[in-house]
Amino acid sequence: MESNKRPEEMVRITTKELADKFIAEQIDAVKKQVGDKKVLLALSGGVDSSVVAALLIKAIGRNLVCVHVNHGLLRKGEPEQVVEVFKNQMNANLVYVDAVDRFLDKLAGVAEPEKKRKIIGAEFIRVFEEEARKQDGIEFLAQGTIYPDILESGPVKAHHNVGGLPEDLKFELVEPLKFLFKDEVRVVGKALGLPDNMVYRQPFPGPGLGVRCLGAITRDRLECVRESDAILREEFAKNGLEGKVWQYFTVVPDFKSVGVKGGLRTFEYPVIIRAVNTLDAMTATVEDVPFALLQHITDRITREVKGVNRVLYDLTPKPCGTIEWE
Ligand code: XMP
Repeated sequence: MESNKRPEEMVRITTKELADKFIAEQIDAVKKQVGDKKVLLALSGGVDSSVVAALLIKAIGRNLVCVHVNHGLLRKGEPEQVVEVFKNQMNANLVYVDAVDRFLDKLAGVAEPEKKRKIIGAEFIRVFEEEARKQDGIEFLAQGTIYPDILESGPVKAHHNVGGLPEDLKFELVEPLKFLFKDEVRVVGKALGLPDNMVYRQPFPGPGLGVRCLGAITRDRLECVRESDAILREEFAKNGLEGKVWQYFTVVPDFKSVGVKGGLRTFEYPVIIRAVNTLDAMTATVEDVPFALLQHITDRITREVKGVNRVLYDLTPKPCGTIEWE
C-alpha cells in the first residue's frame, strides 16, 4: 500500500524553481499512473482543486474531465471564473452543471445547521455521480487532498474528496498534492499560472454560503449574503486587507428589524460582518478593522444590497464564538 507519510527528504516548496521541479515530477508520475485513460475531477474553484486541475491539464490535457457543480452557494463571480480560467483559457474538458434550483429546492425549509450540511454534501455526491455516469471510460478520480487533510489536524473541515460514491464508481485515486502544505500548494498554483485571486483565496467552507445564510435558506437572503460578501471583499482588497486578514465574510440571520430609509419605515434583514485571524482555526482573534472603513462598508451594504437595513460587526473571538455562525 502506498505510504501516506510525507517523505522526509522532501524539500519545502518555497520558490518558483522548486515548484517547477515538483510540477515536472508530478506530470511524469501522473502520466505513468493513468496512461491514456480518463480522469475525473470535481472542480470547485477552491485553491486545491484548481491547482490539481491546472497540473493535470498540463499532464493529460482533455483526458481530464472536470466537473464544476454550481450549487448556488458559491461566492459572487466564482462559477464564472472557473469557466473563464479553465474552459476558455486552459481549454479544459469542463462540464459545468447548473444545479442551483436542485440544491435550493432540497434545502427549502431546512433550518438545522447539520442537516443543511448533510443535504448539501449528499446532493453534491448525487450530482457528481450522475455526471460521472454520463462519462465513458473513466478509470481514475483526481482529488485535491493536501497533507493537512491526511494529518487531520485542526477543525478545518476538509471537503476535498467525493467519498460516498457508490461501489461501482470507486475509481483509482490521483492525488498529486497529498504531501503538500497549503503554502506550497499556493506556490505551485502560482507557477502553473493560476490567477492570484484563485491561488491566495481565503478558506471557504464546503457548504459555502449555505452556512452563512442562517436557518432555512431563502433565495432573497442568499442574495443578501452573496452581494454583501462581494462588497466586503472588494473593500478589503481596496484597503490592503486582502491577504492580511485570514478569513472575512458576511452572515445574514433569519430575522428582520425595523429601520428607516428615505423617510419610510423598513422591515429588513441585518448583515453581520466577521473578520478573523488565526493560525490553525482552533482559536481566532477579531481583526481590528478601521472604524471609518466599517462605516463605509455599512453605508455601501445598506445602500446597495436589496432588503438590508442594518450592519453589525462581530467582535467575538474563538472561543467562545466559532468562526462560522452555523
Ligand atoms: P469554525 O466555524 O468551526 O470554523 O470555527 C473553522 C474553519 O473551518 C471552516 N468550516 C468549514 N469548512 N466545511 C468546510 O469545508 C464545513 O462544514 C465547515 N464549517 C466550518 C470555517 O470556514 C473556518 O475556516
